[in-house]
This record gives sequence, structure tokens and C-alpha cells, in this order.
Amino acid sequence: MSIEEKENKKDIYILGIETSCDDTCASVVKNGSVILSSVVSSQDEIHRKYGGIVPEVASRKHIEVIDIMIKEAINKSGIDTSYINAVSVTNRPGLIGSLLVGVGAAKAICYARNIPLIAVNHLKAHIYSNVLAHPNIRGGFIGLVVSGGHSSLYIVDDNYNMELVGQTVDDAVGEAFDKIARYLGLGYPGGPIIDRLSKSGNSGCIDFPRPMINSGDFNFSFSGLKTSLIYRTKKDKKLMHKENIPDLVASFQEAAVDVLVEKTIRACRKYGMDKILVSGGVAANSRLREEFGKRCSSSNISVYIPPLSMCMDNAAMVACLGYYEYLKGNFSSLDVDVYSRTDF
Ligand code: KG4
Ligand code: ZN
Repeated sequence: MSIEEKENKKDIYILGIETSCDDTCASVVKNGSVILSSVVSSQDEIHRKYGGIVPEVASRKHIEVIDIMIKEAINKSGIDTSYINAVSVTNRPGLIGSLLVGVGAAKAICYARNIPLIAVNHLKAHIYSNVLAHPNIRGGFIGLVVSGGHSSLYIVDDNYNMELVGQTVDDAVGEAFDKIARYLGLGYPGGPIIDRLSKSGNSGCIDFPRPMINSGDFNFSFSGLKTSLIYRTKKDKKLMHKENIPDLVASFQEAAVDVLVEKTIRACRKYGMDKILVSGGVAANSRLREEFGKRCSSSNISVYIPPLSMCMDNAAMVACLGYYEYLKGNFSSLDVDVYSRTDF
């Protein structure tokens, strides 16, 4: 039976579960495109006092709320559990203790209800947040995933096969935002705070380096940019004064955005693509969204970025990817493992 025939046969309901980092997420998605429910229990409040995620605390918190979130997602979806055709869950990459909680819950449901388990890659799921938001997107594009743990560029072919063509050689871009915010005492997570403060700053005030912009490959580096800001503020202490913070962080943000947009567009040209899909938590950044929009329209490239709610970790993107794997019959065994790092 072709994918199209299967699609027409009957409605498919996928329960998605996402616990790869510090958010406990569950969602029910119908036919890979209709979000019936999507709930997130954020741990930001808890990790804020440490200035970053504490893995052991994250996994313990997931255990406390996972059942509640799954029940809430099913209740809000308006369907009975017996309608769920399969459970799709993130099993890689991520924090091992956190991944184990979501995968354990998914396995228990699949075993008890005798339905298929679909273990998926978190980064691939981020790319599918765009498929969920723009259901008419076809394969054949460059995918940029920018989050707290990753800054990765993929070529995605017509059949959605993905090849990694570039990634960060040190810090992920979201990690650099978070570390700079912590250094400046601005709070956690740093990305949204820097984004907000930058709106009242002059992004041309400090000329930060654009690391690896002309490296000739598609890798990124954000650790040097972070060090450059720290070095500049140690040399000139008044940059840290409250009234100068917006200029400082706006200039930092501008350098990061410039490298991401420039290298992604170059990858698009090199691989003969005309579409870019941007996803991950940092895709919520207002300057990144604006700059991709501007530079892609002048380069005749279409750019797709999900709505803000789908940029951050969520289980709807996991359920959406799970739907396409379901149609292909790509199921996982009940002894599937979890992995902190992995390619597809
Ligand atoms: O995808 P995500 O929710 O979790 C991971 O898989 O890492 O991304 C979280 C990251 C954090 O580093 C956060 O600071 C960053 O996304 N982030 C932003 C913005 N909103 C979230 N970075 C820049 N600008 C934003 N508006
Ligand atoms: Zn993520």
C-alpha cells in the first residue's frame, strides 16, 4: 500500500512524548498535521537558580510529572486512549536520565496497549516542526537546527533523508546566549532575555568577530564569540554598566545571527536548493527571523520558520515525525536504547 493510500484509509492518532532536556512534553497529533493537544511542563524556574540545566534535577522532575502530562495531553485531545495508533518518543540525542523517563513511559504504554513504539531523533523532530506548521512543504531543502545543544545544518532530500553538512565545533548558539546572559547576570534562559534587551540596543555599537564565516565549510563556532565579549568587557568595564548592556548584547546577537544566516544561505546555493527550514529554540530569536526573511527574499530563497510555540521543545513535532515513520512502518523494538549523542 502506498503512503497516499494509507493516508486516505483512516485517521491516524500519534501520541508524542519529549523529555530530552528539561521540558516534559506530551501531545496528540492527528494525521501528522492536526495538533489535538500539546502540553509542556517547563523546568526553567527550577534551573534558573543554578544558571543552567542540572541533569540529575531534570530527570527527577521529569519522573514527577510525566504521567500527569501524558494524561493531560490525552484528556485535552478529546479522544479516548484506545484511539492512539502509536507512541512516538525522543530517544536521542539528549540527557540520558531525561531521555530514559520519556522512553520508559512510551514503552509502558506501547506494551500495555499493544501498539507500535517509534523512537525518533530530537533534531529531526525539530525540522518536522516546520512540516507541522507548513504541511505543504516538500523535501529538498537546507535545514538549520539551532538550540541550546545544537547548531547543525542538514541537506534534506526529496525523501526526507538527511545529511549533516555542518555543525558547531564548540558551543551551540543557544548555549552561547545562555552563558553570556549568565556572565552578565541577566538570568536564565539567556536567549529570550538577550533578544528582548537587544531591541533597545544599537547592534552596530561593538564590532564582534564573525567566527568561521569564511572557513569554506559549513561549521560554526560560538565559543570564540563568547570569549570575545568577555575579553572586551574585562578591558572596558563600563560596557557592563546597566545602560550599556542593550548595546553590548545587541552587538553580540548581531554577530551570531550574521554567521548563521550567511552560512545557511551559502549552503543553500552550494547544494542547489531554494528552501531553508529553520527550527529549534533559537529560531524564536526575532533578529534571526527578521534577517532570514530579508536576506532570503533578496536571494530568491523561501524560508520557513515555525511559530514561536513550536520553536521550543514540544511533543507535537515528535508526534508529527512519528506519523511519517508510522506510514513507512519504521517501528522500534521495546528494548530500544537512549543515546546522548548520535547522527540519524
Ligand atoms: O530547542 P530548545 O527549546 O531546547 C534544546 O533542544 O536545547 O532550545 C533552547 C535554547 C536555549 O538556549 C534558549 O536560550 C534559546 O533556545 N532561545 C533563544 C530564544 N528563545 C529561546 N535564543 C535566542 N533568542 C530567543 N528568542
Ligand atoms: Zn530542542
